[in-house]
Amino acid sequence: MDRFLIRGGRALSGDVKVSGAKNAALPILAAALMVPGKVRFENLPHLNDVTTMLQLLGRMGVEVLLDDTGSVELDASTLNSVIAPYDLVRTMRASIVVLGPLLARAHQAEVSLPGGCAIGTRPVNLHVKALERLGVEFEVTDGYIKGRAPVGLVGGKVLFEKITVTGTENVLMAAVLAKGESIIENAAREPEVANLADCLVALGAKIDGIGTDTLRIEGVNALHSGRHRIIPDRIEAGTFLVAAAATTGSCTLIEVEPKHMDATLLKLEEAGARIERSGTTVSLDMRGNRAKAVDITTVEYPGFATDMQAQFVALNSVAEGSGRVTETIFENRMMHIPEMQRMGAEIDLYGSTASTVGVNQLKGAPVMSTDLRASASLILAGLVAKGETIVDRIYHIDRGYERIEEKLSNLGAEIIRLPN
Ligand code: EPU
Repeated sequence: MDRFLIRGGRALSGDVKVSGAKNAALPILAAALMVPGKVRFENLPHLNDVTTMLQLLGRMGVEVLLDDTGSVELDASTLNSVIAPYDLVRTMRASIVVLGPLLARAHQAEVSLPGGCAIGTRPVNLHVKALERLGVEFEVTDGYIKGRAPVGLVGGKVLFEKITVTGTENVLMAAVLAKGESIIENAAREPEVANLADCLVALGAKIDGIGTDTLRIEGVNALHSGRHRIIPDRIEAGTFLVAAAATTGSCTLIEVEPKHMDATLLKLEEAGARIERSGTTVSLDMRGNRAKAVDITTVEYPGFATDMQAQFVALNSVAEGSGRVTETIFENRMMHIPEMQRMGAEIDLYGSTASTVGVNQLKGAPVMSTDLRASASLILAGLVAKGETIVDRIYHIDRGYERIEEKLSNLGAEIIRLPN
């Protein structure tokens, strides 16, 4: 397994071009299953999760043509399987987003249950309940969730008892090809959900209320060919800003959508960073200024994202004063804390709240990645630590950050990939 060797202590500075958003790309790629023709998606990030999704679509008979400009052309007119097998689903839980599109297009789907996950149990009961409202019948056999809509999908009213991002995406995609009108209430408002909805509209869907918690969908008979651009990755972008802030450096993000990053930018300002937003760039300046610790509670968008939580714990661990970070979305998303403690961070973990007292200096140590965002936070800790840090199991980071070591090196970080 590859590892990163990081020699910390350098203030980062420079520009970073932000990649397309992983969590928008995955459901958008799955949406290609719904179209009996060619679709083209631009700004696709080069990530292992994207490769897994393309493999999954390939297994279902979808033709995939990648080009070197970061675009992909998909043609699902040759769809010949409705099965998402265990060997791929177990490596990427987000494979569940093929469920809605397959039901919409073929009125049947068999998706392996993903099993547990490092950050929590992550059940799919809400996906199932919502799709049942559109006429799908489910059974679980042989570790697979099997759905069938014997008379096709019919529009219905769905009220999510809890906000779910991929749950909203699945039922939205199913509703697009259902007969009649559907209403989704308490829908997730994440920009990635809105980007998927915009994509579906570009392919012929009729959706009102995009970006709000109530989506109204008028079912259409079929989607058609078209093209769509994936939004910039607000989590990758935020991770680089925190890296610059923690190392008392500066950084300009290129090709971002600043309004998607409000919660992160506000917390960075509270930590003492000077932030400038202009068009599709965001600049952060923390030079000569130690960060002040901040209090954070993760919530659904537009609140503070769970996917930025671990990075801010890393920032707090070297900031001035004490801070409290509370995770409310996932039950087990604090696995980075014991690793940071090994680097000298003073953190008390009580339930899902991490209380930090910032130290002047972390010390490099060998540490272990447990999930994608935890890995990112350990890299940040390594960048501010004195001496050498080895981050093991970085396959987690390759799932969701494109060429992170190259982008960080361009900012002046000393980080090297050590192949196994
Ligand atoms: N939940 C249920 N039942 C369900 C679905 C969700 O109880 O049927 C619970 C989950 O266990 C969790 C909460 O509801 O406690 C919210 O989960 P959600 O369904 O919103 O998460 P997700 O759709 O599985 C997406 C992102 C995650 C991100 C979360 C929250 C994708 C592919 N993944 O997951 O991204 O953390 O929303 O914003 O969009 C990451 O990129 O590192 C990542 C984990």
